[in-house]
Amino acid sequence: MIRVDGLGKSFGRRTLWSGLDIAVEAGQVVAITGMSGTGKTTLLNCLSLLDRPTEGRITYDRTEVTALNRGASRRYRRDNIGYLLQDLALIEDATVEENLRLARTTRRGHAARRQEALDRVGLAGREKEKIYHLSGGEQQRVALAQLLVKSPPILLLDEPTSALDNVNTGVVIDIMSELAATGAAVVVATHNDQIRARADVEHELRHCGDSGLEAGVTAR
Ligand SMILES: Nc1ncnc2c1ncn2[C@@H]1O[C@H](COP(=O)(O)OP(=O)(O)O)[C@@H](O)[C@H]1O
Ligand SMILES: [Mg+2]
Repeated sequence: MIRVDGLGKSFGRRTLWSGLDIAVEAGQVVAITGMSGTGKTTLLNCLSLLDRPTEGRITYDRTEVTALNRGASRRYRRDNIGYLLQDLALIEDATVEENLRLARTTRRGHAARRQEALDRVGLAGREKEKIYHLSGGEQQRVALAQLLVKSPPILLLDEPTSALDNVNTGVVIDIMSELAATGAAVVVATHNDQIRARADVEHELRHCGDSGLEAGVTAR
């Protein structure tokens, strides 16, 4: 469903990674691991077309998405991608409900879907609260509810459990699994052993040599 072929990313003379080959089928969870600085976030940004690789290509269902222009990239992102950023990217000054309305979807039954998603993450009844009044864990659950509302065919998660307790880690894994079960292709950058255990495939980005970073991928 998603194919990454010979992907590389360089900044000037520094190569972050090169020669990455990754395939993600519908319903699969692929974990991207590797130390801080090995380029996990950059890879997710390339998959979401927020950043551009310097070599190689990404295809989704037969479309070479790395060849799309700006407008088409924006539509691709809107229609196909749910991206849980490491810093969540919620609108702090807006309410829980207003943030959920931003999870654009072409499906019907928006209000019911929002309600269902809030129930699912344990935030029913908190619709009118401002994001800045919520704890970090609660804000994380709002971001997860956005993903449930959108129910995207491609789900990207950037270290979704880095600042969470075990309860919320369980919620993250449940929702990730639920969306995969409905056919989403999931790519998750993580260090978390519970998430790694849930993943179908793991690719490790790693430092090689001492002249900066080079590609290093382990599939399991
Ligand atoms: N636009 C950029 N220009 C130069 N270096 C960058 C740029 N974007 C990211 N980097 C560098 O790429 C490296 C990998 O970053 P990142 O993808 O955030 O890694 P990770 O998510 O694995 O910690 C970092 O050293 C970062 O400074
Ligand atoms: Mg990162």
